[in-house]
Amino acid sequence: MTDQTPKRLFIKTYGCQMNVYDSQRMAEALEADGYVQTDRAEDADMVLLNTCHIREKAAEKLYSDLGRLKPLKGARPDLRIGVAGCVAQAEGAEIIRRMPLVDLVVGPQAYHRLPAMARGDGPAVDTDFPAEDKFDHLPQRAATRRAPAAFLTVQEGCDKFCAFCVVPYTRGAEVSRPAARILSEARDLVARGVREITLLGQNVNGWHGAGATGFGDLIRQIAAVPGLDRIRYTTSHPNDMADDLIEAHRDVPQLMPYLHLPVQSGSDRILKAMNRRHTRDDYLRLIDRIRAARPDIMLTSDFIAGFPGETDADHADTLRLIAEVGFGTAFSFKYSPRPGTPAADRPTVNDSVADARLHEMQALLSRQQKAAQDAMVGRRLGVLFEKPGRMPGQMVGKSDYLHSVFVHAPDAQPGDLVTVRIKASAPNSLEGELA
Ligand code: 5AD
Ligand code: SF4
Repeated sequence: MTDQTPKRLFIKTYGCQMNVYDSQRMAEALEADGYVQTDRAEDADMVLLNTCHIREKAAEKLYSDLGRLKPLKGARPDLRIGVAGCVAQAEGAEIIRRMPLVDLVVGPQAYHRLPAMARGDGPAVDTDFPAEDKFDHLPQRAATRRAPAAFLTVQEGCDKFCAFCVVPYTRGAEVSRPAARILSEARDLVARGVREITLLGQNVNGWHGAGATGFGDLIRQIAAVPGLDRIRYTTSHPNDMADDLIEAHRDVPQLMPYLHLPVQSGSDRILKAMNRRHTRDDYLRLIDRIRAARPDIMLTSDFIAGFPGETDADHADTLRLIAEVGFGTAFSFKYSPRPGTPAADRPTVNDSVADARLHEMQALLSRQQKAAQDAMVGRRLGVLFEKPGRMPGQMVGKSDYLHSVFVHAPDAQPGDLVTVRIKASAPNSLEGELA
């Protein structure tokens, strides 16, 4: 049985949904090479850390995780350790220099070379930006069944260069996959049981690939795939919310009434310093147009507290913008200087001031989140069942607005899309009954 025994692969994913998608594709690529996934690093023949570099201490976190793998590698020197993702891209060979237990370092654009690297046929460090589409060169997925909701990366990289952000450096320039490839992947996912697809990209609504006139047109084409019930997308930049995309929110029933549209700040001065290239008013007018097209849409956003130069008045502007829009949920972060970005050299806001602003913002946002969730009670919503709940006969799924919903539905299966009347709102979920 020796060389028939499958090799075991443990992947830890940090950061965003694009990394979740990439980890899945890497696992599938390595499956073709005889690896099966395990959820215990102790059992693994290969450990892959798929890293994120967006905010503070990402590299430190990686090095401490690697430190914790030392005893494992000491006991089993043939254990392969790989670092993937944005820290791999940013740090490259430095990772192996600092942590010699690492066998390979692979940047996000070179994943298709991972199987060869894992066999020892490639370089130990690959942070190239090759011309070919990595997804095309990844081995074909095995025709296994999939969970009802899946991610599909349609675009990578970013040309926006917000002053705080590493993405344009770690993920590179915007590259859009052609519509034909996206459509064939969508059809393949549906054939494997997927009913909902979230289209991913660092600047997804800036998609400008071959085969469609723009992102709105791409969504219309994807909506025509038989058997696909729901479409979502993330993350978007306000300046790329083109008319045809707003119209798709009005016209395409499969497109869920949910939009993550980061604004980062409500102060014109700070938006300018961030190089966002839009004003507070541009954003508010855009929200009006989106709500006119789709009145029941839920909006979510990202905010940064304590960007260099931010005053109390700027912070108050952000709170006013939050109050004015009313978000369904939002992510807020304390500014963290990223090496190599334009804002990194600017004088920072006092740390305790930034903390206080972050808390104030989070308090307001969580009040809004609770209000938005409580407002679902009494409504009839679509729910896509994903898995059985903890109680007998119970299923749990996601509503149109991405809330988790628990429903007593003994005859239902994962993948069923049902109408549910919402009965109650709990801290992180809703309870409903089949309508
Ligand atoms: N500091 C704090 N937050 C950041 N983000 C990106 N870069 C930084 C940074 N340097 C946040 C932004 C972005 C989200 C993904 O992470 O709000 O929208
Ligand atoms: Fe970063 Fe998003 Fe700005 Fe691009 S648009 S630079 S990914 S924050």
